[in-house]
Amino acid sequence: MEVSKVGIVGAGQMGNGIAHVFALAGYDVMMTDIDRDALDRAVAQIDQNLERQVSREKINADAKTDAMRRISTTLDLPELGTTDLVIEAATERETIKTAIFEDLVPHLQPHTILTSNTSSISITRLASRTDRPEKFMGFHFMNPVPVMQLVELIRGIATDEPTFKTCLGVVDKLGKTAASAEDFPAFIVNRILMPMINEAVYTLYEGVGSVKSIDESLRLGANHPMGPLELADFIGLDTCLAIMNVLHDGLADTKYRPCPLLTKYVEAGWLGRKTQRGFYDYRQDPPTPTR
Ligand code: CAA
Repeated sequence: MEVSKVGIVGAGQMGNGIAHVFALAGYDVMMTDIDRDALDRAVAQIDQNLERQVSREKINADAKTDAMRRISTTLDLPELGTTDLVIEAATERETIKTAIFEDLVPHLQPHTILTSNTSSISITRLASRTDRPEKFMGFHFMNPVPVMQLVELIRGIATDEPTFKTCLGVVDKLGKTAASAEDFPAFIVNRILMPMINEAVYTLYEGVGSVKSIDESLRLGANHPMGPLELADFIGLDTCLAIMNVLHDGLADTKYRPCPLLTKYVEAGWLGRKTQRGFYDYRQDPPTPTR
């Protein structure tokens, strides 16, 4: 199936990155959100990130202008009915995602493929809440989307082969690499990454190391581009906790229990970079550890 117009639901950190890479690859993009300010901020962020790519000579100025021209925004979810592929990138909460699908589905064309950028929720269960489980898939990008090479493609139990093949072709056109994952809690990347981050929080909680020594150990001792606590702040501590809960509930194994210190940070509203405070305090430059 030919995909030319793509709808993106949610203009947050992931949604704006997804819009950026699709527009740059030549797709017409329509982005929607319930908040006009969020849409405006997303467009400004895409402009800034594209400009960074121009200044680093990754793309030329014409490519940036063309990409910006291909992006439109709307507050009206049904307007996504004209697209060939929809990627839902709303908040990582199942009730929110299913409510979006229920509102959107009556407006979609029969051929439209519906996908979710969920980082952990069952694709089969999300698909079952739509009218098209065979045309439903997980389309999971990594953050920052314009930089990270991988897209996880997750088939639900009912996903058909043409849908999977179409999404593979789209990933290819984006210039990214697809990894196919089965539909089990948190798929591949987060099944491995989140327990590592959670263990780093336990290492802090138990006093084995400080924020600085834990991050330095993994950066310099394992060649990770960011330490695990810095990465947790980058992803969002609420997202990390939500994924650990999905692993804990879905696999019923105590090795996935979220660290109480991670829960406490989320309870405090210290969610990482997006709230200016997490394991680091970003109100100072350079950011300082909060423990
Ligand atoms: N848009 C466009 N380009 C961007 C960008 C953005 N949002 N952010 C960074 N870049 C580009 C920079 O322009 C720079 O380009 P050049 O190589 O051409 O110079 C390059 O990326 C590196 O950026 P910086 O020099 O600013 O910073 P850095 O070297 O410290 O790298 C990083 C930043 C790429 C984020 C790096 O620290 C990194 O790879 N961190 C780990 C990220 C990671 O693990 N992500 C996955 C998280 S898990 C996930 O997303 C799944 C989930 O469901 C939770």
